[in-house]
Amino acid sequence: MSLEAGGIVILDYGSQTAQLIARRVRELGVFAALLPFDATLSDAERAVPGFSGVILSGGPSSVYEPDAPRLPEWVLASKRPVLGICYGMQLLTQALGGKVAGAAQREFGQAALEVTEPGPLFDGIDATQTVWMSHGDRIERLPDGFRRLARSANAPYAAIGQPERALYGLQFHPEVNHTPHGRAILRNFVHGVCGAATNWTPENFIEASIERIREQVGDGRVLLGMSGGVDSTVAGELIHRAVGDQLVPVFVNHGMLRQGEADAVVRMARGLGWKLIAVDATEEFLDRLRGVTEPEAKRTIIGATFAEVFEREAARVGQLDWLAQGTIYPDVIESAGTDRPGAHRIKSHHNVGGLPEHLRGRLVEPLRELFKDEVRAVGEALGLPAEIIWRQPFPGPGLGVRCVGEVTWERLESLRAADAIFTGELRAAGLMDDIAQAFAVLLPVRSVGVMGDTRTYEEVVMLRAVTTDDFMTADWARLPDGFLARVSNRIVNEVPGVNRVLYDITSKPPATIEWE
Ligand code: XMP
Repeated sequence: MSLEAGGIVILDYGSQTAQLIARRVRELGVFAALLPFDATLSDAERAVPGFSGVILSGGPSSVYEPDAPRLPEWVLASKRPVLGICYGMQLLTQALGGKVAGAAQREFGQAALEVTEPGPLFDGIDATQTVWMSHGDRIERLPDGFRRLARSANAPYAAIGQPERALYGLQFHPEVNHTPHGRAILRNFVHGVCGAATNWTPENFIEASIERIREQVGDGRVLLGMSGGVDSTVAGELIHRAVGDQLVPVFVNHGMLRQGEADAVVRMARGLGWKLIAVDATEEFLDRLRGVTEPEAKRTIIGATFAEVFEREAARVGQLDWLAQGTIYPDVIESAGTDRPGAHRIKSHHNVGGLPEHLRGRLVEPLRELFKDEVRAVGEALGLPAEIIWRQPFPGPGLGVRCVGEVTWERLESLRAADAIFTGELRAAGLMDDIAQAFAVLLPVRSVGVMGDTRTYEEVVMLRAVTTDDFMTADWARLPDGFLARVSNRIVNEVPGVNRVLYDITSKPPATIEWE
């Protein structure tokens, strides 16, 4: 039996929290796939063979609008349990002959829920509880056979259902933390109502993944772009366990890594028994970046050079049959989604880059099904070092986008030293655990200072530390002023070319986390 079999299908109607539903279900040890709302039955069966239930996510539309996304017929025809959340509940209502209308008052935020008919969904849960509501429509008439299961002050039908047919609807969002009993409600649906298979554990994933990689690649050789980040390391280790030295990991040092990072990547790969090909292309990158200051131009040059070097090195190692990529589930969902509004490109992101022509379409992507936290759990189960698993995100173009202005070796060295002081002090003070990302930025701005009796005229280091859950929005970390004073002193005293230190107190939005 496969790892995914007997899991849950979630149809995505565009809610901000649709991915969160999938993560919550998976935390229960049950596989969940998030599919576009117009997925067919065969799409669903392919993603989750023998799925044991369907969850309909929320979404921004109103079911009575002409072009509103619909409920595919197979959902009810499959006779599996269905849980509609918010928009999903209204869809279910409409599809079964009930009536949905615009509410006079939008309801947004916390509400007190009163369970009026306890049953499988509310099993073991307090009769009154707090839930998170976010909706503009409400149910006017229930479908035949449906009953009210709970109400709130503004939503007379806060939960509805026909337990005999295992059909349920919730006006509130059980997947968010603001609904404290939400996890228990989802557990009741997934385990109690659906009886879903609980095969989804890191250990089972590793076993299944190794088997699949062996099957896919046969005796072919697999090229991997190794960055030292958690995704490429976990993907590489799964492949290495599956096919040993058929894995060809290539690490390109572009010269814009942090202090000690290139050595650490090489050491770790050796420790794992990989035959790593490490290339130092620093001079080539810096040559091409000479005189370039415009952020997008820098990113483009770094991306293109990376692709070129990677391809060149790959060509040297003989026959290659597959290309490994650290694609994770959110990337897969985003490229499959039909209803996601086009997002503005704020910055071009370059990651692995460099796809030798004949490997196009010959991809090994062992992490395609995993959310980031699941990649970490798999990394832990593989016994990878904690520094890798909990490594903060680091942009593909590296310090190139933190060295504002021209990228030169001297400026990179100053930036590396300042960054090492800042992050080292954060770790030593035990402050890093609450911080999602912390780093130094070197600004091409000079200011006058005085050191001893001498006038100085040197550049500025900006410190950035942010808290965030998803990196889409972020707040600046409130660091103690004594701590900032110590870091500032050390940087000005120890880092050549720097005589002033600033702390960035801008949130995202309106700023971004990186400076370029
Ligand atoms: P921004 O600056 O857009 O960054 O708020 C959001 C997150 O993305 C990281 N970042 C990158 N990651 N390649 C990456 O893999 C890139 O080119 C890149 N640029 C920014 C950034 O560090 C933050 O975590």
